[in-house]
This record gives sequence, C-alpha cells and structure tokens, in this order.
Amino acid sequence: MVKISVIGAGNVGSTTVQRLAELEPGEIVMTDIVEGMPQGKALDLMQAGTINGYDTRITGTNDYADIANSDLVIITAGIARKPGMSREDLIKTNSKIIGDVAGNIAKYAPNSIVINVTNPLDIITYVAMKATGFDPEKVFGMSGVLDAGRFASFIAEELKCSKRDVEAMVIGGHGDLMVPLPQYTTVSGIPLPELLPEKTIDRLVERTVNGGAEIVELLKQGSAFYAPSAAIVRMAEAVIKDSRRVLPASAYLEGQYGQKGIYFGVPVKLGANGIEEILELKLEDSQCEILKKSSETIRKGISKLEI
Ligand code: NAI
Ligand code: 2OP
Repeated sequence: MVKISVIGAGNVGSTTVQRLAELEPGEIVMTDIVEGMPQGKALDLMQAGTINGYDTRITGTNDYADIANSDLVIITAGIARKPGMSREDLIKTNSKIIGDVAGNIAKYAPNSIVINVTNPLDIITYVAMKATGFDPEKVFGMSGVLDAGRFASFIAEELKCSKRDVEAMVIGGHGDLMVPLPQYTTVSGIPLPELLPEKTIDRLVERTVNGGAEIVELLKQGSAFYAPSAAIVRMAEAVIKDSRRVLPASAYLEGQYGQKGIYFGVPVKLGANGIEEILELKLEDSQCEILKKSSETIRKGISKLEI
C-alpha cells in the first residue's frame, strides 16, 4: 500500500487528488491551511469513490502530523498568478510558504519522494530540496510534462490527428524561456519537421511558451489546473509503480547541459527512487542560447532567496 500526501488543496491539489484516487494507491492525505476545506473536499472525493468505483482512503487535514510516513508528497501550496503577473512575481510569498511546508515534510515524511508544483517552479523546487535536506534526486518539479502536453495538443489540432499519437518534448525553465524541441517531437514516430513547415512549428512553439499565460488571461483569477493535475499524476504514477518512464522534469543539475547547482527542465527516467537518470540531448545552437538565458533567470531568482 502506498501513502501519498498532497500539500495545498486548491485547484491543482484537489484535482490531483481526484485523479490519483482513481489509481487506487491505498491512502491519500490532503492538507491545507484553510480550516475545514481539505476535510470537506476529502469527504466529497471519498463519496465519489462509490460511484466511480475506487477504494482509495482519502482524508483532509490541517495538521502536518497526518502526512506521517508518506511515500510520496506533492506540493501544490501557495499563491497562483493573476493576469499580468509572471511566475517570478510569486518568488517571495511562495518561497516562504514552501520553506515551512518542506520543513514539515522532512519532519513527518523523511523517506518520501517529493514532487513540487508550486511556482516559480524551478526556483521553488530548489527551495524544497534545500529546506527538506533530501538528496536532490528525491526532490523534483513538474512542468515539462505539462508544457509538452500543451505543445502536443496544439500539434494535434494543427495536423487534425489524434492527440494520442503526438509525443512532444519541452525542456528548460518553466517560464518564458522554456525550449520546445521540434526535432525530438514525433507523431507516431515521424519527426515533426517532416510534417509541418518551420513557420507553422514556430507559431506552435510560441503558443506553447505562452500556454500558461493564455489561460491566466482567460480565467481572470488563478491559473490552469486540469492539464497540470494530469501531468502531476503521470509523474506520480511513474514513481509509485517504479515504471521508469522517460519524461521531462525539473531536476537538479550537476554538470549536465553545462549547468551546476540549479533545477532545470530536462528529460529524465522516473522511478521509485525519484530521478533515476538524467538524459542529455544534442541541441541546436539557438536552443542552447535560450537555455543559457533561462538558467541565468533561475540563478537570479535563487540569489534573491532568503534561505
Ligand atoms: P490555489 O490558490 O487554487 O491553491 C493553493 C492552495 O494552497 C490554497 O488552497 C491555499 O489555501 C493553500 N496554501 C497556502 N499556503 C499554504 C500553506 N502554508 N500550507 C498549506 N497550504 C497552503 O492555486 P492552484 O491553482 O492550486 O496553484 C497552486 C500552485 O501551483 C501555484 O503556485 C501555481 O502557480 C502552481 N502551478 C504550477 C504549475 C506547474 O506547471 N508547475 C501548473 C499550475 C499551477
Ligand atoms: C501554467 O503553466 C501556472 O505554471 C502554470 O499553467
């Protein structure tokens, strides 16, 4: 039996619990600072189990002691963007929240694997790793699966083909300098550049980079959560089933891609021990240039942290 805790029972947290419950991991605990809210959502999701046909035990709490001995902890606590805000605008508030959250994870779930979702993703994942004191391969961030999902969705729409046949890859920081990789994106094994002209691919790349902001502008308050929770569950499933899926994740780099000491989106093999391996890809010069700029933004963010 696997125990999963989800910290933050807002839009991303609660939809993640809903999807996780259907995998029947055993037990899910959902925590939040708002009194009654995680308890109410947990009760609702428990009752959905009789209709959807799952036996997962789901509880809501305001007490970190209840996450004790979790195998996997997913962090979704903090504030989300409002229109006009960048993910970087969230650094100060969310780094304080996650410093506290991570201290509690270290105290109550010292052997867990941690997936961070809170933005700005690569910087907050760094905070989570430092504040838990866990080995870097046990703490990583979700962003690339979401960004690649967006890229794949735009490609399928353009080609009028099934979304199931598109496998996309997006690396780099989860921000305006993320790098969708058309040369490593395929439709049923066919490389994307053989199916679409460069100009069209460039347009889809740009829409992918602005994919989160497009939804923020439409929602007016809060940010995306359906595709993010689907992306989180894909990663969580790889960990709890030790399936060693190859997925993009924000991983701590120790020399790979010419970077050291920062979290950055790269393809990894995900399994029961977290990041089992980081895969290095050959990139075009223009892509290396964007990655370099993206890493500088992340380093600048880290330098502003008070940890
Ligand atoms: P939300 O506002 O719906 O939920 C956040 C929840 O965190 C709230 O219920 C709030 O009460 C709770 N919270 C605040 N401080 C807390 C604390 N100290 N302990 C426990 N809970 C606390 O926001 P949403 O939409 O769920 O987004 C959550 C975070 O995830 C945001 O930072 C957002 O930017 C990020 N995000 C990241 C994505 C990614 O690709 N990495 C995708 C989507 C969202
Ligand atoms: C997104 O890309 C807000 O980071 C989140 O939708």
